[in-house]
Amino acid sequence: MNVLKRCLYGFSIVSLASMNIQCKSDKKVEETTTEAKATAVVTIEKSAYGTTPKGEKIDSYKLKNQKGMEVDIITYGGIISSLKVPNKAGKSEEVVLGFNSLEQYMKPNPYFGALIGRYGNRIAKGKFTLDGKEYALAINNDPNALHGGPEGFHRVVWTAEEAKSGDNASLKLKYVSKDLEEGYPGNLTVFVTYTLNNDNSLDVVYEATTDKKTVVNLTQHSYFNLSSDFSKPILDHEITIDADKLVPVAATLIPTGKLTDVTNTPFDFRKPKKVGLAIEAKDEQLKNGLGYDHCWVLNNQDKGDRFAASAYDAGSGRLLEVYTDQPGIQFYSGNFLDGTLPMRNGGTYARRTGFCLETQHYPDSPNQKDFPTTVLNPGENYKTKTSFKFSVK
Ligand code: BGC
Repeated sequence: MNVLKRCLYGFSIVSLASMNIQCKSDKKVEETTTEAKATAVVTIEKSAYGTTPKGEKIDSYKLKNQKGMEVDIITYGGIISSLKVPNKAGKSEEVVLGFNSLEQYMKPNPYFGALIGRYGNRIAKGKFTLDGKEYALAINNDPNALHGGPEGFHRVVWTAEEAKSGDNASLKLKYVSKDLEEGYPGNLTVFVTYTLNNDNSLDVVYEATTDKKTVVNLTQHSYFNLSSDFSKPILDHEITIDADKLVPVAATLIPTGKLTDVTNTPFDFRKPKKVGLAIEAKDEQLKNGLGYDHCWVLNNQDKGDRFAASAYDAGSGRLLEVYTDQPGIQFYSGNFLDGTLPMRNGGTYARRTGFCLETQHYPDSPNQKDFPTTVLNPGENYKTKTSFKFSVK
């Protein structure tokens, strides 16, 4: 209601004197609202994105700050469908691989932008045992289980709640995974909160509780290409990973159980190094992963939230820094992209046109007694945080 209408309304019900007060106070309300809008540093806007064949309505939320960063998140899979950040000339451009329709996201694809759960990465032969009881998961990455199963958390519909606090805007997503859904025990209530601040940082906070002992390892599966030119491979990106050790894998990408030193191997990213520099080197681990598809053992695990990894593209000047409280990070160089998936504006995503930096526990932890535990008990709160911080240099 504008001020004039409110004043007329006031006239019909109160005396002239009180109407005067009413008008004044309404004016104040309106000024405050306009002021609040003008100072809303990070905005969040909802729009309809599509409808699944089952009739579920999918929404998209755009979080936008005043520094040129924009993130679009859809309630299907909690997928980051778009992420725009400025280059060194101040031009905001797309930096994540994605599609332009819900229909395309619903077709099989390698987890573009999606939330991954209940267990990120592989569980050997899809089996694990808790308190003497063996649980069997679907084998969706022969002979192993990958990323929580065929539907996992990436092909389900999340409910969403918007929140504002200070200079930030958040989207809090919720999903309840039922007991034995995808084979995992316990009803698991999961919250994932995406928060954009005005410092070009996107925080992802994962929370979960269970009513039965289970395993949990949640992560985010965005494929980045900081050049914004998705026809180019990411081989020129300079990667840094703050890790002295690697989780080596055998032929089916299941950890051998040992942790090895990265010194003098293609896996030493302690100083910035181009992805392409050693990716074709003769190396058993590179052969097993068809390139980089490994979990690094992050340093300073006792320090909680800390620097984990970065990626820099000199052409655009974009720098992405990843901070986390997780023990590991999976650096995946997009080796399985094969030119079959459509880009947003024509063309297809070729091999290695995107990379992932998935903060998480080590693969197959439920079967590896020496790895940090991924078990969650009733009464415990699973809570982890990862930040993706963008800048230019
Ligand atoms: C895994 C890869 C897999 C990719 C897409 C990554 O997290 O490490 O092996 O191919 O996800 O499924």
